[in-house]
Amino acid sequence: MAGDLAVIDLAPPPDDYAQALLEGFAGPQRRIPCRFLYDDEGSRLFERITELPEYYPTRTEMGLLSAHAREIAKLAGPKVEVVELGAGASRKVRLLLDALEAPAGYLGIDVARTALTEACTALARDYKSMKVRALVADFTDVDRLPPPNGWRLAFFPGSTIGNFPPEQAAGLLDRWRRLLAGSDMVIGVDLQKDPSVLLPAYDDAAGVTAAFNLNLLARANREAGADFDLAGFRHVVHYEPALGRMSLYLESLRDQQVAIAGRPFRLDAGERIHTEDSWKYTLDGFRDLVTRAGFEHLRAWTDDRLRFSLHYLRGRL
Ligand code: AVJ
Repeated sequence: MAGDLAVIDLAPPPDDYAQALLEGFAGPQRRIPCRFLYDDEGSRLFERITELPEYYPTRTEMGLLSAHAREIAKLAGPKVEVVELGAGASRKVRLLLDALEAPAGYLGIDVARTALTEACTALARDYKSMKVRALVADFTDVDRLPPPNGWRLAFFPGSTIGNFPPEQAAGLLDRWRRLLAGSDMVIGVDLQKDPSVLLPAYDDAAGVTAAFNLNLLARANREAGADFDLAGFRHVVHYEPALGRMSLYLESLRDQQVAIAGRPFRLDAGERIHTEDSWKYTLDGFRDLVTRAGFEHLRAWTDDRLRFSLHYLRGRL
C-alpha cells in the first residue's frame, strides 16, 4: 500500500539489458553500461558498500549534509519541492528535509522500482505534510518533469555525477538546469586523492564491491539469456591519477566462450569487460564544470581530510 504516494512509471522496457549487452560486446573493448548495476540485488549490494569501512564517500557526505543543512536550507528558502536524482534508499535526503523550512514535496527519480517505491513510501509516512511522488525512470533520459509545487531544489548526492566523463557530466547538468527551470541544486562530488585511499574504496577486503560488479553477469544470466560462469571472472579496479578516473572491470580468468541472448562471444584470458567509471574532481575542476553547465557556483563544503565535497549551485534560466 502506497498511501498518499503517487508512482509515475517511465521504466525502460524489460528487454533493454540484452540489447545493451549485445551492443557492449560488439566492439573490441567489451563494456556493460553501469546503470545496469542497480537491479534489486545490485541496489541491496550497493547499500552494503555504503557501510564498508573502506568506502568513505557515503559517511563523509552524510557528515557534510548534517554540518551544513541549516546553511543549505537558508539558501534554498521555504516550501521547496526536493527533486532527487537517483533516489536509491533516500537516507541522505532526510538530513536535508529535516533542515528545510516547510518542504512542500519530494519527487524521487530512480530506475530501481522496488527500492524507490519503498523509500518513497517511508518518506510519505514520515513527512505527512509533504506531497511525495516517485518517478520510475533513468534520470539521464528524463526530458520532462511533472508540474512543480513551487520552487524546486534538486538533490544529486553520492557523486553519481562521477559516472559520466566530464564533458557528458557538463551536458547532463546543463540539461537538468533547464528541466529545473531556474531552481537550485545541491550536488555531492568525490575528490581526487591518494590512490591508497581510493583503491580500497572500490576493492574492499570483504569482497562486497566484487559481488556488486559480478552481479552484472548474474543479472545477464537471469534476464538476458546469458550463460556467464561467475567463477571465470574477477573484479579489477584501476585509477588514472592524471584524469581522476577510477575504472572498474570484470576480467576473464581464462579463454572462454559465453552466450548472450543465444549469440556466442569469445573472451581471452586477461581480457576485461569495462563496467563502470567513477570520475574524481578537484574543487576548482568541479567549479569550472558547473560554470560551463550554466550554473552559478555559490558554495562548496569539504571535510577536513578533503575527501568529498558538497556544492550549492544556483540555477539560471
Ligand atoms: C554511486 C556511482 C557514486 O562511484 O562510488 C561504488 C558506485 N561503484 N562502488 C561510486 C560504486 C563501486 C558509486 N556511485
